[in-house]
Amino acid sequence: MNKSLETQRMEKIVSLCKRRGFIFQSSEIYGGLNGCWDYGPLGVELKRNLKNYWWRVMVHERENIVGMDGSILMNRAVWKASGHEDTFTDPMVDCRSCKARLRADQVIDRKDIQQCPNCGGKDLTAPRAFNLMFKTFVGATEDESSVTYLRPETAQSIFVQFKNVLEVSRKKLPFGIAQIGKAFRNEINPRNFTFRSREFEQMELEYFCREEEGIKWLDYWLEERLKFYENIGIPRAKLHAHEIPDEERAFYSKGTYDIEYDFPFGRQELEGVAYRTDYDLQQHIKASGKPLDYFDEETKQRFVPHVVEPSAGVDRTVLALICEAYDEDTAPDEKGKLETRIVLRFHPRMAPIKCSVLPLLKNNEQLVAKAKEIADLLRPHMNVFYDETGAIGRRYRRQDEIGTPFAVTVDFETLGEKDPALRNTVTLRDRDSMKQERVPITELVSILTSRVR
Ligand code: GAP
Repeated sequence: MNKSLETQRMEKIVSLCKRRGFIFQSSEIYGGLNGCWDYGPLGVELKRNLKNYWWRVMVHERENIVGMDGSILMNRAVWKASGHEDTFTDPMVDCRSCKARLRADQVIDRKDIQQCPNCGGKDLTAPRAFNLMFKTFVGATEDESSVTYLRPETAQSIFVQFKNVLEVSRKKLPFGIAQIGKAFRNEINPRNFTFRSREFEQMELEYFCREEEGIKWLDYWLEERLKFYENIGIPRAKLHAHEIPDEERAFYSKGTYDIEYDFPFGRQELEGVAYRTDYDLQQHIKASGKPLDYFDEETKQRFVPHVVEPSAGVDRTVLALICEAYDEDTAPDEKGKLETRIVLRFHPRMAPIKCSVLPLLKNNEQLVAKAKEIADLLRPHMNVFYDETGAIGRRYRRQDEIGTPFAVTVDFETLGEKDPALRNTVTLRDRDSMKQERVPITELVSILTSRVR
């Protein structure tokens, strides 16, 4: 069977991720662990750039949002109150023929006949609720009294710390609490590379507001979050705001959008933006008996705030960034012959390495010394990579393939050997246009920092 172009594209992306050190299978030498991934040297930089940018625009650039970093293990009572212990489930079906365990929505339904997507078998069990939380025990005894779970979302620690954060930050409504951290779900079928994982990271904001302003802030955050994706290099045309219809929404939500992206494997969710009303705070008030409310100094009223929650996946966004950046074009090799070039067209602010620094020749001491000097000059400002091995064209290709947006080359003009006016200038190459400009070394830091911020 011929593979679709999109399947082939995805295979190339997965292979590049491993070959160049973006993403590896977890525990690979032991055969891996399904649904778990390790980020290599380039992947960790990409992920960090994404998280730092989210934190910058969601927390640092806003007067009314503060951050927190909650623990992964929490009192089991949190998960009882939030509803996760009873209802955080996916319906699961077993195929009696091939023993596959399937999410009920993956079963093929042809004219009311249910078929296993793996083997085509029709002998399937009735759907059963499967709780997605990883259960664990706290302390030395493994019994019911020591049970808790790895958190399946970061949001709950924000809700249960609402009062503490409000008191120390002395914010007035509307205000938000942001958090980036790990979450765990025992997904029945992890798939599509890192898209559906069992261990992943979330970037969540709980934005507390007055009830009468809930819908206004829902619309506001949807637009802000769409802009965020555009600002990291995902074009609006590939983003979709899918409004969840009443019958599919959580019963307590008064409005929810999924922000979706056109992945090679189909249109899939990157982020949920949900107006959760006062449901979570009320649940924790009931269960803990503590007053998680807000006192309005002006009106002298005490009430429980409503919440709008933009909740994004770090790993899914990293995958979207890589899928969006992957491109193939043609470029001349050393002898001028056109060859296929693989290039990751990351937005410079997301690129793992911002600039490579290359002496034209490895065996010329002066070129090498100057290039190392320039790398040291840039290093405090951005992640740079010094490379002296191989022909210059090959070195450019290696950087194109990992998405480095700029390359500085030190040549004989830099040393002033051809034209004294060009002494202490370098070429600055742009990854996408492959054009080079000549710039003074003294201006490199300001030119590059303005382009990668
Ligand atoms: N607090 C709300 C919440 O957790 P969610 O829609 O279940 O909402 C939010 O999750 C985001 O977390 C998703 O849009 C997705 O980006 C990410 N996410 C959820 N499950 C995931 C998984 N199994 N693997 C990777 N990312 C996941």
